[in-house]
Order: sequence, then C-alpha cells, then structure tokens
Amino acid sequence: MKKKLLAVMLTAAMAVTTLAGCGSGAASDSASTDAGSTEAAADAGSSDAAASTDTSGSGKRVAVAMPTQSSERWINDGANMKTQLEAKGYTVDLQYAEDDVQAQVSQIENMIAAGADCLVIAAIDSGALVNVEEQAKNAGIPIIAYDRLLMDTDAVSYYATFDNKGVGTAIGKYIVENATKNGNKGLEAVSGAGDKMNIELLMGSPDDNNALMLYNGLMEELQPYFDNGTLVCKSGRTSFDDTCILRWSQETAQQNMENYLTGFYSDEDIDIVASAFDGFAYGAKAALEGAGYTADNWPLITGQDAELMAVKNIIGGSQTMSIYKDTRLLAEKCVTMVEAVVNGAQPEINDTEQYNNGKIVVPSYLCTPVAVDVDNYKSIIVDGGYYTEDQLAN
Ligand code: GAL
Repeated sequence: MKKKLLAVMLTAAMAVTTLAGCGSGAASDSASTDAGSTEAAADAGSSDAAASTDTSGSGKRVAVAMPTQSSERWINDGANMKTQLEAKGYTVDLQYAEDDVQAQVSQIENMIAAGADCLVIAAIDSGALVNVEEQAKNAGIPIIAYDRLLMDTDAVSYYATFDNKGVGTAIGKYIVENATKNGNKGLEAVSGAGDKMNIELLMGSPDDNNALMLYNGLMEELQPYFDNGTLVCKSGRTSFDDTCILRWSQETAQQNMENYLTGFYSDEDIDIVASAFDGFAYGAKAALEGAGYTADNWPLITGQDAELMAVKNIIGGSQTMSIYKDTRLLAEKCVTMVEAVVNGAQPEINDTEQYNNGKIVVPSYLCTPVAVDVDNYKSIIVDGGYYTEDQLAN
C-alpha cells in the first residue's frame, strides 16, 4: 500500500516537475506573493506579457471575477490568469469581491457593460449568478467557470478545475494510510490492535459544489472505518450538512473546533482533524493551541491548497498534509478555454460526465490534485518551482 502511494507521489512529482519545465515562469513568482499584494503579483505578470510574441488575444478583453483575496490561493489564481492572458495580448480586467455575493454580481454586470469578450468566473455562491449569467449570454459573451462550477445555468461554455472528488479521496487515503496510534501506522493496523481514533470534520462551503464533492470522496475512504468503530466522531457530526462551513470561513472553523474541544474532548484527545482547506487547518491549530495541545498529543491535521503558510506549518509540524493544486496549470488550462471561445480554437477537455450543473453537463478539464506532506514537499513543491526553499524558510 505504502509502496503504491510512493509510486503515485513520485509519478505526480515527475509530472509537476515536467510541467514547471514547460514554462509559466512568472507564475511561480506570483505563487510566492503574500496576501495583500495582488497588484504587485499582477504587475509581475505584465512584464511577461511584454516579452511575449504571441499576440493572438490582441484587442480582446477578458474579465476575470475572483471570490476573495482573504486566501492566498485566489491571489495566485488571479495573478496567474492575468499574467498568462496578457502574455497572449489580451487586456485583462481582474476583480475580487471579498466574499460578498452582491458585490460579485455588480462586478460582473459592469464587466458585461464594459464589453468583455469573455468572462472567467470563480463564484462566491455558485448558484447566485444565474441572472447575470443570462445577461452575459444575451450579450453574446461566453463564460468559463474557474475552479468552482457555475450552477443552474446553460450560459457556461467550459469548466477548468481540479478533480474535486479526487481531492477528498486523496485526503481520505492519506488519513487511512498515515493516522498513527500507539505506534501503529494506518487505520488497518490501528484497527488490528483494537485501538480507535477520535476524528472531527471541517468541511467546505455549502454554496460551493466543490465542497460536497470533496466530502463524498473523503467519506468513501473513511466510512468503512466509522462502520467498524476504528474512527469515532465524539461530536456525532459527520454529515455534510452538520460539518460544512459557509464561505470557507477560517474563523468559523476555529470556533467549531473550540466548541468540539470543550464539548467533547475534556477527557480524551482528538486524534484527527479532517479539514477541507488550509484556512480551516489554521483555525484548528489556533483552537488546539488554546486548549493546550502540544507536540506530544498534536492530532493529524489535513488541508487543501498548499498555501505558503500551510507548507511552512507542515515543515514545522503543526499541519500534517495539504493538497497541492498547481494554480499555474489551472490558469493554463483556463486560458486554452478562453482562446477556444474567443478565437474558435479547441480546448483540451478530459471530463464530459461529472459536472452536471442542474441545467447542462459542462465540458471540463480536471487537473490532478496531489497530497503533500513533510516527506514529499521538496520533490513536489520546491522542485516543481511553486515555492523556493527560501520562501519556506522565512
Ligand atoms: C474551493 C477550492 C479549494 C479552496 C476553497 C476555499 O472552491 O476548490 O481549493 O480554495 O475553495 O477557497
């Protein structure tokens, strides 16, 4: 089992290295940008644009609507999109709506009014944009869904994302293979020794289709161990409805964890925090520190996005793993979709079944998520050019 995991990781590491090699150079700079310096990241992108000889997008405007700058990943996503589109000569209008649904609706209305040739949308609330999407369709402006599926609309042409159920599967498999109790590693071994492990779940936003898909992938892996009593959830909250956190809020994650710890863990330690997002892992970390947890009883904590802070925490031991999603690659795939709708080119698609938005099945490209921890972050993240050793050291 472990061998198989290693083989998968190695293959993934090689794939990532290869991808980094085929050049979205400036994007690796943008990956390092810390929160609050979006403009700097975007500017870094424009210098690349100047150097480019591909002007296929010249004279065309692409509007990119992003959800929030409160999480590092979206800053990188926006910067990568701007960089890569400008490198092809497009004019880019990049807007963030700080998790305010109405603000995002207004931004998109303005983008339509300003005469965008294509809209790229990472929604805050995936079902709340139906009217504005209809307006875009009536104005003949094609829409690409970025990372999060746009629900209940036939106005969306393509969807670029990561394999969202695969993210949950990877987190689940990581827990199954690495959770350790009394020297036994992996839930099979823990179960064989007659031990059990306490787990709580911090799941994603109910208005984000990715969150439920992740939950489903995760539970497919964990359910057998709930069923045979190896995993115990003392709060009893294991359903998606009971564990989802609106707008992926770090503060709510911290509050939930504080409530779990005071309500259910006064006489036993929590062993596993199955968190769906690095932001939740930061919240859990704060709650655990507040409750007096130390390296001796620190639980296994999962995450998603491999944010700079998360990888630092992985190196320091306060987070166990994350899911690396190479935002450079996602932007690259999304740009091919923009070109398809604007210039009549053919984008690469690898899924035409999974992403039914309630109206249509949206043709999608799914990038592969990769689990990273202290053992493989160097080969995947550093060798892949996503963060440098220097960035991780400071
Ligand atoms: C999801 C995305 C995750 C994470 C989360 C919170 O839609 O798939 O990677 O970033 O939003 O921002």
